[in-house]
Parts: sequence; structure tokens; C-alpha cells
Amino acid sequence: MQHPRTASVATAPGALPLLGHLPRFVRAPLAFVRTLPAHGELVEIRLGTRRMVVVCDLELTRTLLRHDRVFDKGGPLYRRLEEVGGVGLATCPASEHRRQRRLVQPAFHQRCFPGYAQIMTDRTDAALTCWQEGGTVDLTRETRRITADVLVATVFGADLDPAVHALLAADLHELLAGVFRRSLLPEPLCRLPTPGNRRHARASARARRLMGELIAGHRAAGAASHRTPDGPADPRSGLLSLLLAARDPEGGPAFSDEELIDHAVTLYVSGTETTAGAVCWALHFSALHPPVHRRLTEEIATVLGGRTATWADLPRLRYTRQTLTEALRLCPPGWLLTRRTEEDTTLGPYALPRGTVLAYSPYLLHHLPEEHPDPDTFDPNRWQPGPDGSPPPPLFLAFGAGPRRCIGDEFAYLQGTLLLASLLSHWDLHPHPSTRPLPRLPQLTLNPGPLPTHLTRPKHHHPSPARPRP
Ligand code: HEM
Repeated sequence: MQHPRTASVATAPGALPLLGHLPRFVRAPLAFVRTLPAHGELVEIRLGTRRMVVVCDLELTRTLLRHDRVFDKGGPLYRRLEEVGGVGLATCPASEHRRQRRLVQPAFHQRCFPGYAQIMTDRTDAALTCWQEGGTVDLTRETRRITADVLVATVFGADLDPAVHALLAADLHELLAGVFRRSLLPEPLCRLPTPGNRRHARASARARRLMGELIAGHRAAGAASHRTPDGPADPRSGLLSLLLAARDPEGGPAFSDEELIDHAVTLYVSGTETTAGAVCWALHFSALHPPVHRRLTEEIATVLGGRTATWADLPRLRYTRQTLTEALRLCPPGWLLTRRTEEDTTLGPYALPRGTVLAYSPYLLHHLPEEHPDPDTFDPNRWQPGPDGSPPPPLFLAFGAGPRRCIGDEFAYLQGTLLLASLLSHWDLHPHPSTRPLPRLPQLTLNPGPLPTHLTRPKHHHPSPARPRP
């Protein structure tokens, strides 16, 4: 990867003694990262004692993501994530990654999706029909509850006791905030018994214990026996069945109990707030843009006629999917992600010593005006296929890229599209006028704060007639 010319990495201006850029980063992280491209393609920032090089150029980001053995998962963010999710698929080093990905991948195969969609439709239908006309719900909390419910049903093939559900949801909330907060602290401070660190440790231990109990229950129910050699025979027996039945080359179990917990926690943490956040941002932005809202609700009314969305409806919910994509462009849940160089190397013309922590930001890159004209405008038409159906895909990194690209991207689209369409099919949503859903940052995911929303029925709503099955 030697480059004909060499260049030096710029440093972001305005670093304070000792604190560096930390105060600006904590106060307004999104605005801060958007100032960085003005200083160079690679820009070093200092967060207290930690240095991090932010990649502000699209091609260099693509190179970074392609070469995962040189630019491996690492840095304080992933170290803190490991404390929660162990060395599961999202955190494991490149040397371990190919094996894990091969074992987990079959559960995300297209053939499983109609079954997953059925679970999603049933769960969404049950949740949305409990809402009361004239009532108020917090969309952030409710969509999170639905995505968590679906995830547990698809991973464990099980129902979750509502009390366990509430505990897990509270723990997840703490974990997502805590991982990011702790990644900004110097290492020794993470080990002090402060109230924040103790709260985080308790949430992590409890989430892992609950996952362990779910796995034990799953094993006792003998769900692994439902599996066929080339994938789960019935997605209702759950993705975990596949992992339980996976074998190493000697014929023993491929995963220890601890590793199974790592996977379960990883999928729960990666797959619930992210999808719920995307749906909430899509609802929020479309409510602010009447022409988008009109087109979206017209599509949904035409396709669904007041019922809950199913697998069979997806090909006709094109604008709904575009709206979701545009929400993910403007507010990608994974807004800043890190890597660490495993050897002395170069990125473009920049020499980087071993151990350099780099960050890429889908949020920053999605807002580059040269990539997306008028980048702050919410416009689902950006994702409209051209007349020949094959436009060059505009830059989109909400699911990452390269070997570590999100394994759950199509699962998220499936769930996000079904949920967004079903919500607007059953309900007219009236956001509370005082709502300003500023994301609660800094934290791991770029999700909205509470979204109190008043509910009325759409004019032509017919409560759940018979639903077409996939
Ligand atoms: C809108 C929803 C989602 C978004 C925006 C999202 C985003 C991402 C991103 C950006 C990465 C790459 C991280 C990096 O480069 O460091 C990733 C990885 C991952 N995601 Fe997602 N994700 C979503 C939903 C899901 C779902 C539903 C699941 C599982 C059910 C999931 C499971 C994972 C896993 C296991 C990885 C690690 C993959 C690997 O390293 O091989 N995600 N996700």
C-alpha cells in the first residue's frame, strides 16, 4: 500500500490543554465532526488523553473498510463494547472474523426472510392494535419495544416475559450510553467504582445473565433439533438453534456457552435501537415534510388498505423503503466507528504507525455536499431508481462496508419497512408540538429522544381484515 507521495495528518485546531477537543466533542459532537473535512482528508482530534484520526474522505474510508486485517476492529469504543458483548461477531478481531461470519451468515440468508417477516407482522400487529385511539405514545420507546420483541422472537424463537423485557430494555439503554461515555474516559477511570461505572457493570452483568437464561431455556426446549443441515428448517426455532447446532472441525460444539451469550448480546445490542431509531427518524422527518408524508401515506393506504404489512407487500412499498434509507442517510445510527492499525501502514499518502486509532463517520460522509447535494434536506427521491433501474448508487454507509459490513442490513430493512408502513397504515400520528427529538449524545447510536405522539385513526382505516400470508 506504498503511496508515491507522502503527506502528514492534519490536526484539528482549537485543542485545549489536557482536554483537547473533548469539550467541543461532548457539547455538539455532530457539528464538531462536520467541521473536520475543512482541515484535511485525515484529521487528528484529541479527546482528553486519547488521540484519534478521523477519516474525512470517502475513498480513504472505503480503503480503510476493505483492508480489515490492517485496519482491524479496535480502539476504546470496541474495547468497551467487548466488555458487554465479549468477542462476538461485531467485536472479534479479523483473524477470528471469517469463521464467526461463516457460522452466523446462514441465519441471514434470504430463504429465512419470509419466516422472519411473518414473525415481524404478527408482533407488530399485536403491538399496534393495543394502542388506543386518542391516546399518546412515546414512539421512541414503543418502536424499540417492538424491535426488541421481534429480535428475541427471531433469535431465541421464544416469547419474552414482559418483566424480563422491561429489564433488558433498561439495561440496553444504559449499555448504549455507557459504552460511549466510558470510551471517552482514560482507562484507569473506567475501573474506578464510581456510580456510573457500577451502574454500567450491573446492567452488563444482568443482560448477560438474562441472555444465559434464555439460552438455557432454548437448549432445554431442544430447539436445536429443528434444524436442517443447510439452515433452520423453521425460522420460528430461532437463529440460536443454528448456533447451538454448529460444529467445529472435530465435531464438537462450535461455540462455548460464553460465546453463545456473546452472540446473543451482540445481536440484541446491534439490532434493536438501530432499526427502531431509523423508523422514528423516518416518521419524524416525513411529518416535517408534507409532500413526502402525503406520498408515503398514499403508497401505504393503496398497498395495505388499513392493515398490517406483510412479506408479500414489500415489492410495492418502494417509497416507504426509500424514506427509510433517507432517514438512515441523515441520521445513521452508527454515526462514528473506530478501527486500529495492526502494523505500520499507509492510508493513501498518509503514514500511520501501528496502534493508531482511526474513526470513520457515516454521518460525516453522508453530509458531504459533493456526495449528496443539499445534504441537510430530507429527500427520499435521492434513492429513486433511474428509468433503466440502474443508477450509480449514491454514497450510503449507514451499514458500513467491506468484510465488516452489517450482517443484519436486509433484516433491518425488512423490519423497518414493515414497521413504518404498518404504523402509518393503522394510525395518524400527531407529534406533540413541543417535541424536539434531538439525539441524546454522545452515545453509541444516533437515536432520537422521546417522541410523544397523539394517535388518531386514518380516515379510511379498517381494523385488521384477513392478512395475506407470504
Ligand atoms: C438500521 C439498522 C442497523 C444499522 C444502521 C446497522 C449498522 C451497522 C454498522 C455501521 C455496522 C458496521 C460497524 C463497523 O464498521 O464498525 C454493523 C455491523 C453489525 N451489525 Fe448492524 N446495523 C443495523 C441493524 C442490525 C441488525 C438488525 C442486526 C442483527 C439482527 C445487526 C447486527 C450486526 C452485526 C452482528 C454486525 C457485525 C458484523 C461483522 O463484523 O461481521 N445490525 N451494523
